[in-house]
Amino acid sequence: KADPVRFDGQVAIVTGAGGGLGRAYALLLGKLGASVVVNDLGAPMAGQGSDSRAADLVVNEIVKAGGKAVANYDSVEEGEKVVETALKAFGRVDILVNNAGILRDKSFVRMSDADWDLVQSVHLRGTYKVIKAAWPHLNKQKYGRIVNTASAVGLYGNFGQTNYSAAKAGIVGLSKTLAVEGARKNIKVNVIAPNAGTRMTATIMPPEMVEAFKPEYVAPLVAFLSSSASEETGGVFEVGSGWVAQVRWQRTGGAAFPANRTLTPEQVRSKWSQAIDFEDGRATHPTTPGDSLNDFMANFDNGGDEEEAKPLRDDGTV
Ligand code: NAI
Repeated sequence: KADPVRFDGQVAIVTGAGGGLGRAYALLLGKLGASVVVNDLGAPMAGQGSDSRAADLVVNEIVKAGGKAVANYDSVEEGEKVVETALKAFGRVDILVNNAGILRDKSFVRMSDADWDLVQSVHLRGTYKVIKAAWPHLNKQKYGRIVNTASAVGLYGNFGQTNYSAAKAGIVGLSKTLAVEGARKNIKVNVIAPNAGTRMTATIMPPEMVEAFKPEYVAPLVAFLSSSASEETGGVFEVGSGWVAQVRWQRTGGAAFPANRTLTPEQVRSKWSQAIDFEDGRATHPTTPGDSLNDFMANFDNGGDEEEAKPLRDDGTV
C-alpha cells in the first residue's frame, strides 16, 4: 500500500487563504501536517480595502484542529513580505499555492485602465512576486512544489473578462516556463483551473451548483500536486466537483507550402480547411518549443510541386 500523502516538517504558503478555495487548501494542508502561512489581505471581491480577520479566522481553525499556522495580511503584490512571514515563523518554505484573486468584470468597451491594471497586478504580478521571493530558497534546498491558479476563462475566453483572462493565461505561461527552469532543482510547477462555489461565483452559479462545487472538492488535487508524492510538472488541470482532468495544446497536421518563397494570401486560403483540420489523424500535441519547431523544419526541403514552383522574382515573391 502506498504511503499516505503528508506534509510533516514542510512549510506551505497559501495566498488568498482567508476564504473560498484558499481556505480549503490551507485547512487540508494544515490537517496533513504542513505548517501553513495563511495569507489574505481580506479584500472585497473587486480588490480594494483590507481586513485581517479573514486570515485570522482560518489560522484559528487550523490551530484548533491541532495544526500549525500563522497569518499574513500583505497583498501578494508584496510577495517578499509573504515569504518573509514563512521564514520568520517556520524557518523555511516548501510549498506555494498562489490562489489570491479578484474580479473586475467589464465588457472591453467599458473597461478602464484601473480595472485592467489591478487585475494584472493581483493575479499575474502577485503570483510572480511570491514565487520570485521564494525561488532562491526552493533552489537552494533543491525542493519545491508550486501550484498556481488559472481559470477556464484564461484557457477559453469569456465575455467581460479580458483583464482576468489575460492575467490567467499569463499565469499558464509563467508556470510552464518555471517548470522548465525548476526541473533540475526538483521544483515542480503546475496550474489548476478550478470550479468552486465561492463568493466569486455565488452571483453566477445557481445554489445547487454552489453546493455541488465545494472548495473542499478542489483541495485534494492541490494537496497532491503540492506533495513529494507528485512528480508532475508543467501541467494544467481543470478540477471541481469530483472531477480532475489535464488540459494540453493540440495542433493540426497543418497545411504545407513551398518553404523557399513568400506565400500569397490566396495560397493560404486554398489550403485553409487543411490548416484547421484536427480530425484528419495528423494532429499532434507539442509540449516544447522544440516539438513545435520540428514540423517547420520537416517542411524546409519542400520545394513545391510543378504548378507552385514558379520562378522567384527578385523580391522573393512568386
Ligand atoms: P474568493 O474571492 O472567495 O477568494 C479570494 C481570496 O483572495 C479572498 O479571500 C481575498 O481577500 C484574497 N485576496 C484578494 N486580493 C488579494 C491580494 N492582493 N493579496 C492577498 N489576498 C488577496 O475567490 P475564490 O473563488 O476562492 O478564488 C480563488 C482563486 O481561484 C482565484 O485566483 C480565482 O481567480 C480562481 N478561480 C476561481 C474559480 C471559482 O469557480 N471559484 C474559477 C476559476 C478561477
